[in-house]
Amino acid sequence: MKENNIYPIFDKTLQRDDREKMLNQKSKVLWFTGLSGSGKSTLAIALERELAKRGLLCYLLDGDNIRTGINNNLGFSENDRQENIRRIAEVAKLFMDCGVITLAAFISPTNEIREKAKEIIGEENFLEVFISTPLEECERRDIKGLYQKARKGEIKEFTGISSPFEAPENPTLNIDTTNKDIKECIEVILEKILPLVTL
Ligand code: ADX
Repeated sequence: MKENNIYPIFDKTLQRDDREKMLNQKSKVLWFTGLSGSGKSTLAIALERELAKRGLLCYLLDGDNIRTGINNNLGFSENDRQENIRRIAEVAKLFMDCGVITLAAFISPTNEIREKAKEIIGEENFLEVFISTPLEECERRDIKGLYQKARKGEIKEFTGISSPFEAPENPTLNIDTTNKDIKECIEVILEKILPLVTL
């Protein structure tokens, strides 16, 4: 890329598979998508613990954390959500290149946004976990009180209320957490994921 005076050194560093061997695992990005309150973060946190028990190293990137740091200049317009996810996908790719199993838990509300993330991360590395808990259940839980605020018009462009959420068409996994405990959900995820992340 001489035209912009940038000379990446990716080819000179240790490679992803060298690091995967050091860690005795295969790195992937597990991309959790779903409405606010659907259970994305809860399941990602529980999954990290289960994988850690098996000696597998993960890192969790989560909406509310990333938005207080690297993306603290972004809001919830369509453009800002796109930029939010673009940066997160680039960060997830770096962690994956480190050999780490990367869990990303973001609403990532549209097919276009998730396609972009998949393109950045690479289709073969991108495992889409749709937490399909319906809006009525997320709103009933209203853990953060945000649905109530959104209904009163105190939060604009709130996903599911005044901003769209498109269900993924062909996710790797589809989990509705209504009437299921965390353990049950994690068993389903582990069954699918473990063979893909172990060497
Ligand atoms: S995304 O749409 O850009 O993928 P992200 O996952 O980073 O969203 O952030 C979602 C979190 O931001 C929610 O869990 C909620 O706590 C908070 N939030 C604040 N305002 C909104 C809004 N307008 N729509 C959705 N979530 C919001």
